[in-house]
Amino acid sequence: MTERDSKIFSLTHKNQLATFFLAALIDKERLRVSPMNLANQFILSGIKLLPKALVKRFAMRYIAGEKLDDAVRVVSAINLKRMMGTMDVLGENISTREESLAAVRECEEVLHAINQNHLDANLSIKLTQFGLKIDKEFCHSNVKRLIKIAAGYNNFIRIDMEDSSTTGETLQLYGRLRSEGYENVGVVIQANMRRSEEDVRKLVSLKPNIRLCKGAYIEPEAIAFRGKDEIRLNYLKLLEMLFKGKCHVGIATHDDFLVGSAYQRIPEMNLQKSDYEFQMLYGVKSKLRDRIVADGHRLRVYVPFGRSWHAYSIRRFKENPQMVRYVLRALFFPEG
Ligand code: FDA
Repeated sequence: MTERDSKIFSLTHKNQLATFFLAALIDKERLRVSPMNLANQFILSGIKLLPKALVKRFAMRYIAGEKLDDAVRVVSAINLKRMMGTMDVLGENISTREESLAAVRECEEVLHAINQNHLDANLSIKLTQFGLKIDKEFCHSNVKRLIKIAAGYNNFIRIDMEDSSTTGETLQLYGRLRSEGYENVGVVIQANMRRSEEDVRKLVSLKPNIRLCKGAYIEPEAIAFRGKDEIRLNYLKLLEMLFKGKCHVGIATHDDFLVGSAYQRIPEMNLQKSDYEFQMLYGVKSKLRDRIVADGHRLRVYVPFGRSWHAYSIRRFKENPQMVRYVLRALFFPEG
């Protein structure tokens, strides 16, 4: 926080705290649906009222920086630790074609930089960044352009999965790209979504490269599992289906229970190292990351960077059990 931010923050401190807790109290829907404890709920519901500079201080734990050079530096360091990377240019739900084309150009730069710097990394993208909600054909041609550039470098593009308003269209676009003969592209399945079992069943014949994660978006109960255990159970069911279907799986989780379960199934199913990889987010559970690599498994770190860090950071805060402690400390000891 700059000195000026700190002063403003101190002056409006009491008002802000009152608004902050009020916002949390009236956010009944979140309080009802989330499994997290009450204190965490208060903090998270009111987080959008905090000064941006303060939020940024927490955000930078999960983000390489604002520039491509920052991401290159972070991925180089990750590679030195025998881990792979996947880079993500932050930004989603853009509303104009110009913004989409700018995002395509930024992603092209990433692919060139990976090649020039001899990084062991690929690229993750979000379809809403490339115009999925503006015009599907436009989005398709933007993604195709990147996949072709990646193919020229023998590299790979992962299409992230966003909220449920995009699931069907994302899988459709993925299927279309595969039917057009593009092999260097993969997609994501979310274990919290009730539809995922059916989606995996349909996908398996393509021998897809799938990242399996729990799902980062709060979805209605009608279409999504909410309980921790049922999400874990579904994760394991989907993992089994993917392994049996001989798909390449990115086991994307920091959950010790799921990592342990995968550890057990890998030798039982006689999987080769090249059949799967573990995946984790930059800034989360680095000790687990190190252990997985020391145990001889392949591991990829998701490294986001860019100026549009806000939406991504808020999703990560919601998953961070330490969040309450950090925010309260910053609220009551802003100079610290
Ligand atoms: P869980 O949330 O239960 O976390 C297990 C433990 O890990 C926690 O108890 C805590 O100790 C630690 N932890 C987890 N998150 C933390 C955080 N932010 N800060 C500090 N500690 C934390 N989602 C999606 O919807 N679409 C996508 O495309 C992707 N892509 C993706 C790529 C990769 C590489 C990963 C690892 C994850 C995703 N996700 C995602 C996010 C995913 O859906 C999920 O929200 C998070 O991974 C958290 O779920 P876990 O499985 O880690 O379990």
